[in-house]
Amino acid sequence: MHLHKYEKIWLAFGVAALVVFLSVVGVSAFSHDHTPAGGMETIDPKKVNETAPFDKPGVTQLDDDTYQVAVVSMAFGYNAPELKVPAGKEIIFKVTSTDVVHSFTIDNTKVNLMVVPGQITTKSYTFEKPGKYLILCNEYCGTGHHLMYNEIEVY
Ligand code: CUA
Repeated sequence: MHLHKYEKIWLAFGVAALVVFLSVVGVSAFSHDHTPAGGMETIDPKKVNETAPFDKPGVTQLDDDTYQVAVVSMAFGYNAPELKVPAGKEIIFKVTSTDVVHSFTIDNTKVNLMVVPGQITTKSYTFEKPGKYLILCNEYCGTGHHLMYNEIEVY
């Protein structure tokens, strides 16, 4: 196969650009110790219901200013009874799935988590305004996807 001189130059340029790009991404990821946005915690998806904190899903007060909310996602709903949390306090959401990929999205907030079986997704959030917030799944997860929602009350 004969390559024209200009083709070789462009090929070399393309390969060099790729090497530079991947090096920048790789070096910055390792030097800044990047992890997935939701954290690196794992869980056996078959043992979710017997693994803390998902054996008792719902709200737990950790200290005066911190609450934990454990939620189990499954087709097609959230196991999260009585979600009531105070405004102005740190709420740590911990969410996992027993089956497929879902999301845990709270309407009108910056909480928009991908929920992956085998992983525990963690996100800290502080609600500014009291009210009732819709929780919904925005990852298509099956025929009941549109039925997958819940509510959290902020007081
Ligand atoms: Cu769960 Cu869509």
